[in-house]
Amino acid sequence: MTVWTERISPERAAEILRRAIARGLLEDERALVIHDLDLMQARIAYLRSAFPTPALHSLAVKANPVVPILKAAVEAGAGLECASWEEVMLSRAAGCEPAKIVFDSPAKTVEELRFALELGLHLNADNFDELARIGALIEGGLAPAGPIGLRINPMVGAGTIATTSVSDADSRFGVALEPDRSKIIAAFERYPWLNALHAHVGSQGVALEQLIRASERLSSLADEIDTRIGARRIEWLDVGGGLPARYDDAAELPSLSAYAAEVSSRLEGRDRGIVTEFGRAIQANCGFAVSRIEYVKRMQRTRYAVVHLGADFLMRPVYQPQAWRHEVFITDALGNPRTGEDGEWNIAGPLCFGGDVIARSRVLPEPRPDDYLVVRDVGAYTLSMWSRHCSRGLPPVIGVAGDDLTILKRREQPEDVVAFWSG
Ligand code: LLP
Repeated sequence: MTVWTERISPERAAEILRRAIARGLLEDERALVIHDLDLMQARIAYLRSAFPTPALHSLAVKANPVVPILKAAVEAGAGLECASWEEVMLSRAAGCEPAKIVFDSPAKTVEELRFALELGLHLNADNFDELARIGALIEGGLAPAGPIGLRINPMVGAGTIATTSVSDADSRFGVALEPDRSKIIAAFERYPWLNALHAHVGSQGVALEQLIRASERLSSLADEIDTRIGARRIEWLDVGGGLPARYDDAAELPSLSAYAAEVSSRLEGRDRGIVTEFGRAIQANCGFAVSRIEYVKRMQRTRYAVVHLGADFLMRPVYQPQAWRHEVFITDALGNPRTGEDGEWNIAGPLCFGGDVIARSRVLPEPRPDDYLVVRDVGAYTLSMWSRHCSRGLPPVIGVAGDDLTILKRREQPEDVVAFWSG
């Protein structure tokens, strides 16, 4: 196992939890989220060493937008990939230089495009109409300071999870390689400032073979464009994110080095940089969440432990439990893992609807009020997908760096929530 696939073990999570309890960080808290900044930075270093340079490894902000976490990523040499203008602002707040911000929103306004060009972001257009908007801004006198790419759907097929697969013939992102290949090449002939290609084929559930095929199609297209234009035009190939994360030890994971070697072999002798946009593969395993067990309820056939993290935090596991599953374990009030098995338990979230169950039929020791429930591998697409249903406040986020535990984001207080819904 490499640092790329390592998970925070239950023993280590419990040890960090005990330190947090000793520091008083759980006093008055219903729940909190802990992010291992050391592991995240080690993963970024591993990623950087796997690819040749020039390379820009932009971390997908949508996986985890907590600014001090983004800041630690930037300090480790990462860039940031943004799906919205707000994410660009978060990246700026994290100290990311414009040249390392990849702006990928699928719905950019003319104003956002203008700002992006002015700032010199690495801009990826989603479609031909967006290229026309950029063209008009450039003709109007704006000189692009950063690279400009076009998102291609390389059409490598869907993965095992429909909602996070974006490379079948009907996917709505980018321009489809077929039947639009000649239109794509014509766009590069028409716009001399267009100098990069972008693809992203999905998130989790996509096979390594599909990711490799996508990068091959992208690089063949880049070669074809260069040949047609008769000069080196494509300076950057952005292969997106999509490498899966491990949510259980038995999962077979594609290796980053195998992927990097395949992608790199297509770059040889071409004087082109590579851009990656990983989110989940870097972040998911860096985080775990802790909730106090508030109540234990025994119904006719089903037993529930009621906790403070539900569909507001674990949206995918609640609404699509067949595709997403997080391992959980229980500790006592001091953070010592409980042992023993007491048959099957459901873990209910705090939201006021029957389906708010974050884990079903788990064999656990008998939960007791004031024990803690630990949910593993929540560093990606959890807080970033926080839902306002029932208006509960976001839990605090604690960062781990060496022996230090630091509050990266304080708990959202009831008055913050009142302010959110007011005026
Ligand atoms: N680049 C682009 C253009 C993306 O759309 C995404 C994710 C990424 C990079 C990062 O992908 P990753 O390496 O994290 O797989 N749990 C969420 C996942 C949505 C991901 C969407 N795009 C959900 O279920 O909506």
